Amino acid sequence: ESVELGDFDHYMLKEIYEQPRALAATFNATAGHEIADSAFGEGAADIFDRVEAVQIVACGTSFHSGMVARYWLEELAGIPCEVEVASEFRYRKRVQHPGTLLLTISQSGETADTLAALRDAGADDFVGSLVIANVDNSSLVRESDLVFLTRAGTEIGVASTKAFTTQLVALLMFTVALGRRNGMAAEKQQELVNALQKLPDFVQQTLELDADIKQLSEAFIPKHHSLFLGRGIHYPVAMEGALKLKEISYIHAEAYPAGELKHGPLALVDDDMPVVAVAPGDELLEKLKSNLEEVRSRGGELFVFADRQAGFISEPRIKVLPMPHCPEVAKPIVYTVALQLLSYHVAVQKGTDVDKPRNLAKSVTVE
Ligand code: G6P
Repeated sequence: ESVELGDFDHYMLKEIYEQPRALAATFNATAGHEIADSAFGEGAADIFDRVEAVQIVACGTSFHSGMVARYWLEELAGIPCEVEVASEFRYRKRVQHPGTLLLTISQSGETADTLAALRDAGADDFVGSLVIANVDNSSLVRESDLVFLTRAGTEIGVASTKAFTTQLVALLMFTVALGRRNGMAAEKQQELVNALQKLPDFVQQTLELDADIKQLSEAFIPKHHSLFLGRGIHYPVAMEGALKLKEISYIHAEAYPAGELKHGPLALVDDDMPVVAVAPGDELLEKLKSNLEEVRSRGGELFVFADRQAGFISEPRIKVLPMPHCPEVAKPIVYTVALQLLSYHVAVQKGTDVDKPRNLAKSVTVE
């Protein structure tokens, strides 16, 4: 596998563009046409049979993939799911539901807090542990009962891109594996498998929007703050979009569930606070528009990532970026890719060290 930059200016951009291949490799390496329990390691079937709930623990970008997975596990598989950052999980007294699987998610497999969470969790409290990791033979891989290895390949950019989206592929496969034990219809399983198979194409179509996203990114260069909004499963997508922007462009970015805008952050919206909305096609945009109506006079500006079939068009102070039309389950991945490109272009134009942002490390192996 090549870790050369090739024609790309930065590893981050190279890794963004590698996603169609990485997503396909992650799905195909272990699945093909159906999702076998054995994709999660020896003994997965027995452990999965006993799972009644899932506790996800992770840090940073990997925490955000866990947040997305919670929607899938609860909505599609009917499995209760909690998600917590490792540095909180490990330091509090918890009450564990019986039948809970501990699921850690980590690109490196070495993050100190996540590893400590696994070690301290108390094996007796869980039916088993599963890790979704990108690095084989890492500590989390060695110490977990079950393992799913994402096939992102080496990720060099400190800001995680292809590791995140391949984690989501693994998590959707995991949702099917648990769902079929919990009454998920065969047609639903097939629909999810089909979406996973077509995913690389939708991501490719998103990469083709690169020039449009670059153009949109120019508005962010002079700004110091930004808000990212999403509802439901797109709220963690907004969180990941905000994290990416702050990590590499040093613009303060905060994510809010869209409905909370009017409970505080709306007071801050002015011409130094662009609002990004991950709003594929629901009624969210109409609500946001009426919220923002009030701040237009102060220069409030909205950037909306919406399904191209939703028929939204740009208007003064509302810029719509039409996204590929794709199945619901593909959207968290597809929209994330667009937000990765947005952050990348803002950072490059600001002249930051995109692959090695200040003060951050690729792998945080000490507390
Ligand atoms: C660091 C990296 C992030 C990463 C996080 C968790 O903060 O800069 O990109 O998401 O660690 O790392 P992990 O390897 O456990 O996914």
